Amino acid sequence: MQVLLSAAELASGIDRLADTVRREYGRRPLVVVGVLTGSIVLVADLIRRLECPIELSMVSASSYRGTATAPGRLELRLDSLPDLAGRDVLLVDDIFDTGRTLEALVAELRRRGAASIRSLVLVQKAGRAEVAMQPDFVGFDIPDVFVVGYGLDFDGAWRHLPHLAALDSADIAAARVGSAPRPDAHRPTPVDPAGDART
Ligand code: IMP
Ligand code: MG
Repeated sequence: MQVLLSAAELASGIDRLADTVRREYGRRPLVVVGVLTGSIVLVADLIRRLECPIELSMVSASSYRGTATAPGRLELRLDSLPDLAGRDVLLVDDIFDTGRTLEALVAELRRRGAASIRSLVLVQKAGRAEVAMQPDFVGFDIPDVFVVGYGLDFDGAWRHLPHLAALDSADIAAARVGSAPRPDAHRPTPVDPAGDART
């Protein structure tokens, strides 16, 4: 595992993101919509740097399953959202990979009548986008590697790391050996550490 962004580098990235958000919205009230689970650390750090009135809501999106590093079917849950009609919404996620999660969420938020929707991500992976949209605010551009830490996980592990680290295939093998047996553990899961495989 290799440290890609240290805790200090992440902190200055969040400072920069918060400055940008402040410039964009001034003192206007904002609905911050975080995407569970990967964005929780980013959301916690970001909102404490903002001074405008904020209502926080979390939605859930999952596209990765078990020990696969390639995206599977996207599942969205938006049942805890407040009424968004006429409101400014900042959608916050950990990573822009293929972009399918944010694209689907922006479409949902738009259907709910938000006055404006901007999206913010901690990191964007190079050369992976499969959608036309781009996130409005990006903390860091990173190469096409599978990353963990600062909220991001691999099969549930490593979300709590204070830095962002790139996994190599040995880490992935070790995580699979070390994890508790699962009901489907006998089924081999194809793993592509570069994240290029499609399911
Ligand atoms: P997208 O829909 O392909 O942009 O995927 C976005 C979601 O996939 C993120 O919210 C993450 O949960 C997950 N994801 C994508 N790449 C990585 C990674 O390198 N590490 C951990 N999770 C990832
Ligand atoms: Mg996520």
